[in-house]
Amino acid sequence: MQATACAHSNIAFIKYWGNRDHALRLPANSSFSMNLGGLFTRTTVRFSAALSADRAVVDDRVLEGASLARITAHLDYARRLAGCALRAEVISHNNFPAGVGIASSASAFAALSLAAAAALDLRLSEAELSAYARLGSGSAARSVPSGFVIWHMGEDHRSSYAESVAPADHWQLTDLVAIISTAHKAVGSTEGHQLAESSPLQAARLATSSARLEQCVQAVLERDFERFARLVELDSDIMHAVMQTSAPPLLYWLPPTVAVMHRVRQLRAEGIGVCYTIDAGANVHCLCLPEAVERVRAELSAIEGVREIRAAQPGGSAWLES
Ligand code: DP6
Repeated sequence: MQATACAHSNIAFIKYWGNRDHALRLPANSSFSMNLGGLFTRTTVRFSAALSADRAVVDDRVLEGASLARITAHLDYARRLAGCALRAEVISHNNFPAGVGIASSASAFAALSLAAAAALDLRLSEAELSAYARLGSGSAARSVPSGFVIWHMGEDHRSSYAESVAPADHWQLTDLVAIISTAHKAVGSTEGHQLAESSPLQAARLATSSARLEQCVQAVLERDFERFARLVELDSDIMHAVMQTSAPPLLYWLPPTVAVMHRVRQLRAEGIGVCYTIDAGANVHCLCLPEAVERVRAELSAIEGVREIRAAQPGGSAWLES
């Protein structure tokens, strides 16, 4: 009763921010992302009668308290489906250093869901697995399918899942992540989602997000970078406007974040294929066309406060290891 699974992290082009149902992580809007090839979590789940409680070790650190409880709650769902009461040991590694500021909850809960389902021999479809991963971390729903992925907001647990709209090799975008801060964020995304509705701008964001998503999917399918770039930056800026106007307000940007945003805009004005998007942190994801990558990398390295740059290209679906 053991299985090992891996899943990539992902970066959203059209963001998830706010829930209609916090307990089930039913989002307030659909979102659209790309898996980040090369950046993944590998997780082994072993159910055993010899264990009296769940145990989880992430990057050689034993989890306790709320982080362990989140994993136990997630395993409980699979145990219920399988009619199994056994406790489990979870051993998980991220192949990207912890604390570089690249979100790991998406890859972590996608890998955990696939490993737990396989260990209990649950035959879940991709949509069912994605919906299961969503319960652990919303963005994890998008790390289950391959390549370029839509997470349909849905109406209930079953209908809120992600699916691929194009395979990883559809478009050779590179995500150059400008690492600006490795500090633990003051307000994490789970708490942030609960503040979204306190912003007077969230209603305007939600009223317009499905149109942006449709247009962004079209831009990706047509590989229309100019249109894609405008929509991706607009969607990130609108989400940050909501964050910055919630109660309490969340300002994730640091001065180098803004310096990178300006530089990316200047480069695009010069005809370089690059645009930015920012999650709940100070780091900036710079999405580049292949011919722009080396120039953008050099430009980012020259900005004060950019500590490191990590590169990723579109990645495939979550997978089982034998
Ligand atoms: C800003 O999926 O990390 O990165 O469901 O509470 O784990 P939880 O939240 P999470 O939220 C991601 C927020 C975001 C935007 C996005 O990835 O769509």
